[in-house]
Amino acid sequence: MEYNVIKDAKNILNNSSYVVKNPQSNKNRWMQAFGNKNPIHLELGMGRGEFIIEMAKKYPKINFIGLELNESQTATAVQKLVSKNIPNLKLICGNASDIATMFGKEIDTIYLTFSEPWPKPIDEKKRFTHESYLKLYDRVFKKNKHIILKTDNKGLFQYSLETLSQYWYTFKRVSLDLYNDENPISNLPTDWEIKCVKDGKPIYYLDARFDE
Ligand SMILES: C[S@@+](CC[C@H](N)C(=O)[O-])C[C@H]1O[C@@H](n2cnc3c(N)ncnc32)[C@H](O)[C@@H]1O
Repeated sequence: MEYNVIKDAKNILNNSSYVVKNPQSNKNRWMQAFGNKNPIHLELGMGRGEFIIEMAKKYPKINFIGLELNESQTATAVQKLVSKNIPNLKLICGNASDIATMFGKEIDTIYLTFSEPWPKPIDEKKRFTHESYLKLYDRVFKKNKHIILKTDNKGLFQYSLETLSQYWYTFKRVSLDLYNDENPISNLPTDWEIKCVKDGKPIYYLDARFDE
């Protein structure tokens, strides 16, 4: 995926009250950071933030955190938030592989939205549904595990169905064409998803859970 480069991205991030500059210091303290005991939902690889911002606006009783590796992408999300007051939203510019340093057992739901598919076998470990990531998620899920995944990549979707079921997740919903499903699924689109839908691509969706 190509990204627009924002020259002063670092500055934009530093000056935004939405961006948590040292997320490690909030580990086991996110409830205090939000000032309430509401559930916490985390999106990994939020890109330009369309999904997490709109989710936070729609569900004020849920706390949302968008995490993104790329500074310019995160800065674009920040720019969408200028003069908006969304107290249940925070952003992190960081690596998904570091989430166990940022969170204790505090997360209720993880969204994996149009994650990089990493199709080459040599890159398998980088896929967000590789077993090593599923083990990482175990360290941050509060009790029950809940993953919502959306992708336009069939290979990543098939792979994720396999790894999640091998890891004892069960599927509450699976759709091979989210926008044309017989039983509509409540959904807000990501930036990438908007483009895929315009291009007429089917969106694959799964809602996976593991209840203790
Ligand atoms: C294809 S884009 C999708 C962005 C967004 N979820 C959407 O649907 O519009 C994948 C995003 O994941 C981010 N990403 C890739 N590896 C990451 C990592 N290890 N940690 C955090 N973000 C990552 C990329 O920078 C990119 O913004």
